[in-house]
Amino acid sequence: MPQIAMLGSGFIARFYADSILGQRSRDKIVSVYSRRTESAGAFAMKYGCVHATTDMEVAIAHPEVDMICIALPNDLHEAAVMLCCKHGKAVMTTKPLGRTAAEARRMLEAVEKAGIFNGYLEDLVYTPKFLKALDSVQNGALGRILWAKSRETHPGPHSDWFWDLEHAGGGCILDLGCHCVEIARSFIGKDIRPVEVMCWAETQVKPIEAEDHAIGLVKYENGAIGQFEVSWTFRGGLDLRDEVMGTEGTLWINNFLRTGLEMFTTGKGADYVSEKAESNTGWLFPVGDELNDLGYNHMFTDVFNAFEQGRAPRETFYDGYVVNAILDAAYRSARTKLWEPVVLDVWRGRTGVTRDSHLTEYDQDHYLIKEETTHYGARKVILKHKTTGQITERVLS
Ligand SMILES: NC(=O)c1ccc[n+]([C@@H]2O[C@H](COP(=O)([O-])OP(=O)(O)OC[C@H]3O[C@@H](n4cnc5c(N)ncnc54)[C@H](O)[C@@H]3O)[C@@H](O)[C@H]2O)c1
Repeated sequence: MPQIAMLGSGFIARFYADSILGQRSRDKIVSVYSRRTESAGAFAMKYGCVHATTDMEVAIAHPEVDMICIALPNDLHEAAVMLCCKHGKAVMTTKPLGRTAAEARRMLEAVEKAGIFNGYLEDLVYTPKFLKALDSVQNGALGRILWAKSRETHPGPHSDWFWDLEHAGGGCILDLGCHCVEIARSFIGKDIRPVEVMCWAETQVKPIEAEDHAIGLVKYENGAIGQFEVSWTFRGGLDLRDEVMGTEGTLWINNFLRTGLEMFTTGKGADYVSEKAESNTGWLFPVGDELNDLGYNHMFTDVFNAFEQGRAPRETFYDGYVVNAILDAAYRSARTKLWEPVVLDVWRGRTGVTRDSHLTEYDQDHYLIKEETTHYGARKVILKHKTTGQITERVLS
């Protein structure tokens, strides 16, 4: 039963606290660090923390604390992780792990050297829809995975530091692409090496140095392709969708804008609808249980169970490092307009994986290309001769 120190009291710290205290009320946030006394105090009051401070190290070193939750701007993750190592405290951190793979690698090496528990809080690979879909994929329902696409677009983040390249480390590629990359990587197989990336990125709308819109392709060693679509300029709410295509099937997930609950209101009694919703009048798509539907509940359950059982959670700093390495290649590709290699100095998955054979035998001489029943009742097969390569069709009935 971990006793937690929350670093940060902003947007994600509150989502995390609502989830931690909501589902497993035996877990406690005992300490909170925030920049300003008032915000730390307000958070402590709301979530029943016995200790609040404006000194990060004091929160981490607090004797009652045994696990730290990092919910700070991206440029502060590394310093916070190093303090957890110094005090030998278990650590879980929000995404992205680092602003670059170099930062992420330093954090990975530090936690492993210190021998401390580490969890990477990638909630979108814990949504109930994702977990069900992943089960189906891993059971072979979709056959060999050929393409996995994930899209996260919204009208832009809620705090100043995200828009500042130095603090954030990047624009929507880093902020949202980290989710999309890990989603696609999970469907394709986390033991399959990502090899190269092609990415288009542009600052289309906002007066910022970073990109506010991007599309990328991530090629994997087994021939599968991951795709991410990210934007801070999308209008209409938070669009969170995944699509997976395999040799035996397809799946589509819509996490947010079409959840099965649709409502119209003139605006009378208007209230909060869901994260990044741009309107609370007209036709709306409220999310039934945001904490659950965004994966926070399943994520903390896995992290805390792993901590208690002395095992690694599903997502660790190593996964955060791989994601950062893929995103570094995306940034390079956006500049060079070329496929750029994913530089992974630390790789713990399989190597030399080749594409599985996908050919279907029809008879001794032919492979089957396609079988179809037409609207006029003919059953046809299209075949390729194994040695001559000739393509023919046969009408069976
Ligand atoms: N779904 C997700 O996983 C998700 C969603 C949103 C944000 N995040 C991540 O969470 C982290 C925090 O984002 P947020 O949305 O909570 O931001 P936020 O601006 O709402 O909160 C940031 C918190 O950090 C504290 N802080 C300490 N030093 C600071 C400094 N120098 N500048 C600014 N704030 C400082 C602030 O007091 C505040 O409590 C980021 O790494 C972000 O990428 C993850």
